[in-house]
Amino acid sequence: MSIFEWTPIYETGVPAIDDQHRRLMTFVNEMFDALVQGHGEQVVDRILDDLIVYTKQHFEFEEKLLERGGDDDIDAHIAKHRTLLSAVEGLQQRRAAGDIEVDEDTLELLRDWLVSHIRDDDAERAPAVMRGAGH
Ligand SMILES: [Fe+2]
Ligand SMILES: [Fe+2]
Repeated sequence: MSIFEWTPIYETGVPAIDDQHRRLMTFVNEMFDALVQGHGEQVVDRILDDLIVYTKQHFEFEEKLLERGGDDDIDAHIAKHRTLLSAVEGLQQRRAAGDIEVDEDTLELLRDWLVSHIRDDDAERAPAVMRGAGH
């Protein structure tokens, strides 16, 4: 069972970026599965930690390509990455403080944020990403 299914609509046309987006959404599915199957809190926390590490790496990689590709609106895109990242880190901190459970609703929200970033924001910057990747 999963809360996200990859379709070609999410492709930016840059294979490395698309692979990373797929991996990112796999973490979301894994976290959902862990919650639904009632795995321990530690399992959920570990997936969330991994998701954050991977998200940071992905954003850095994408920002480098945007810079190399001479994107004319790179600052706005970086700001969107920061907002997304701090939202996810906020979840992590609240869990660490023990005052929230990452339940299915929260995870659906996270999925929707990521999906709309991939489908709308990243798709919009795809030409610069492609230039940056040498396509
Ligand atoms: Fe992205
Ligand atoms: Fe992005």
